[in-house]
Amino acid sequence: MNLEKMASFCKKKGFIFPSSEIYGGLAAIYDYGHYGVLLKNNIRDAWWEHMVQLRDDVYGLDSAIFMHPTTWVASGHVEGFDDPQVDCRDCKQRMRADHILEEFNIDADKASLDFINKELNKLKEEEKIKCINCGSKNLTDAKQFSLMIKSNLGSPVDTLSEENVVYLRPETCGGIYLEYKNMLNSMHPKLPFGIAQVGKAFRNEIVARQFVFRTREFEQMEMQYFLHPDAMDEKYEMWKDLRWKWYLEYGIPEEKLRWYKHNVLAHYASQAYDIEFNFSCLNSFKEVEGVHTRGDWDLSQHSKHSGADLTYTDEKTEEKFIPHIMETSAGLGRITLMFIDNAYTEEEVEGEKRVVLKLDKRLSPIKIAVFPLLKNKPELVEKAQEIYKTTKEKWMCEFDVSGSIGKRYRRQDEIGTPYCVTVDFDTLKDNTVTIRERDSMKQERVDISKIIDYFKSKLED
Ligand code: GAP
Repeated sequence: MNLEKMASFCKKKGFIFPSSEIYGGLAAIYDYGHYGVLLKNNIRDAWWEHMVQLRDDVYGLDSAIFMHPTTWVASGHVEGFDDPQVDCRDCKQRMRADHILEEFNIDADKASLDFINKELNKLKEEEKIKCINCGSKNLTDAKQFSLMIKSNLGSPVDTLSEENVVYLRPETCGGIYLEYKNMLNSMHPKLPFGIAQVGKAFRNEIVARQFVFRTREFEQMEMQYFLHPDAMDEKYEMWKDLRWKWYLEYGIPEEKLRWYKHNVLAHYASQAYDIEFNFSCLNSFKEVEGVHTRGDWDLSQHSKHSGADLTYTDEKTEEKFIPHIMETSAGLGRITLMFIDNAYTEEEVEGEKRVVLKLDKRLSPIKIAVFPLLKNKPELVEKAQEIYKTTKEKWMCEFDVSGSIGKRYRRQDEIGTPYCVTVDFDTLKDNTVTIRERDSMKQERVDISKIIDYFKSKLED
């Protein structure tokens, strides 16, 4: 499965569409269709359940996208949230210089522009690099390109005046730091505790055709854990372990995951590891989530720039200090792509190709599809409608009458529906239906009066 095939599958099956397609599209922006948003919401809920609902030490937050512009000066983003960019002089295609070097196994993560240009020039002399779009070797030197996206509040948008400038947040954690004090004063937590949120983030990414793996508008699921520095090592290991197990719990095989250790660290970080997944559509291991320490950098910077007291006083020891932070940060769109990539299966059934999304049932967009065997038999349609109405009160269900039963099974397989219920002529005699399971394709007869209990045991236990 390559990226082109993945994008075409996601579009055809109603998961993910290129944005603004009727106007020719908008680079690196995507929309989620019916099944895409259901899948994405289920993944978000699975993350929230583990990160907030099942914990006593993590609180939820939904902070605004716009924040006071000084937020991003304090965090260092205005000054230095850049990627090194190389342009093709012939077709104007933009490329990430560090990604070009990565292909030659040169680690340029957080490297200086001097280092990047030196390495690029060597490759240029050897005629080893060319434009990913037109193949030209006429490439510029690398220059820094800010990922921050500006907007204006309170003045006409056509005058991007500096005094009204606001930024679309490039990461959701900024809002967590700004609300740390309010959360402390309203929830009265004791250290260590976390604040979690899911929301949109925006980056003016240098586009390199990576479908939803790298987009300019995306969602992050982030948790910032506040603690005493002495507790850092223990809690860091705890969260690394918890986050790793989350992927396994939702069906990602361990052999498709690995840890990537950052060798070049931000000046405030002591440890930084990413969880990488082996994407078949990208033909390589790529980052899906970062688990990083951030020291006391964030709260110290916001305290310095705002003048607010962001210290914490330990009731027992009376020690007063700025809490240290470690974060878990994952991209929701990227993880949605990971789950589709992992679940996508092509197999042969009775001489025919079957495409099936073997998703964890809890993540499947549709849990149950209900069919009458024939659409022109009102008694079958009516009975199937009755079942559909009852089941959809509890789970996301679909009713389908079009095409042969085989075709309807195939359609549900492709979107990962774990169960299909068929009402046939025997149903009218003995009040039973056929329930067919997606992966094994096994069928069993179940009495209609027991259907809710049957699905409760299959979908909720
Ligand atoms: N607060 C830390 C932070 O934002 P990051 O490594 O820049 O760290 C964290 O982003 C996660 O967000 C990544 O592991 C990735 O899953 C996701 N992400 C980052 N940039 C993205 C983009 N342009 N498109 C989609 N997902 C992205």
